[in-house]
Amino acid sequence: MRPKVIVNCAMSPDGKIAGTERRQLRISSPEDMERVRRLRSECQAILVGAGTIVADDPHLTVKGLPPERQPLRVILDPRGKVPETAMVLDARARTLVVTVRECERTYPGAETVRLGTGRIDLEALLALLGARGVSTLLVEGGGETIYSFFRAGLVDVYSVFIGDFIIGGREAPTPVDGEGFRTGEHIPLRLVSVERLGAGVHLTYEVLRNG
Ligand SMILES: NC(=O)c1ccc[n+]([C@@H]2O[C@H](COP(=O)([O-])OP(=O)(O)OC[C@H]3O[C@@H](n4cnc5c(N)ncnc54)[C@H](OP(=O)(O)O)[C@@H]3O)[C@@H](O)[C@H]2O)c1
Repeated sequence: MRPKVIVNCAMSPDGKIAGTERRQLRISSPEDMERVRRLRSECQAILVGAGTIVADDPHLTVKGLPPERQPLRVILDPRGKVPETAMVLDARARTLVVTVRECERTYPGAETVRLGTGRIDLEALLALLGARGVSTLLVEGGGETIYSFFRAGLVDVYSVFIGDFIIGGREAPTPVDGEGFRTGEHIPLRLVSVERLGAGVHLTYEVLRNG
């Protein structure tokens, strides 16, 4: 069965997930970080794009869990940009790097799969993860990756924390970048919950595919 896909990210009140330098910014409150820790521990896999690995070098692990109980780390890297020294390739958890047929790179410490030509076939990826027992996949960013999942019609839940400072900048990344959706293609959502978490607010939406 195809895994449920939850997108989770943190943005500023002006709708940015990082500044124009594209470096990691702490937008989440401590209360939101604890929510994300719990959410990660309930998912069997956590996915980000190569842009986030290059910009933020995250571990993508859950504090306090041994390696064998960590969610699988999944990285989209069609052009082999992820450096060999990336934290996500360490031994704290298993890692699956997803690339395309024409990319010949391999990654020490990680399994590599090639799905698609040019673009990664996200449906094939979900089928592969489902067959490996992943029932919930957490997509944490960045904006290009989240757009790819929305564009493919594969997002079930959109979860966003809104922090307490303005970032600004027309080139600053937003939760959903890519080429965007034209009028009539917009993705309809249903607001499911609103929760104050410290200095910010957490919103959860169900994605309504049929409008
Ligand atoms: N606030 C938050 O919650 C949060 C969370 C995560 C990241 N961020 C921020 O987001 C920024 C990075 O975002 P980003 O949009 O530049 O990068 P990204 O989404 O992490 O990675 C984008 C790259 O992933 C690959 N990719 C994504 N979908 C693909 C698909 N369907 N097929 C093939 N390749 C695919 C492409 O690689 P190629 O370019 O090699 O083709 C694409 O350029 C950073 O500033 C980071 O700090 C913020």
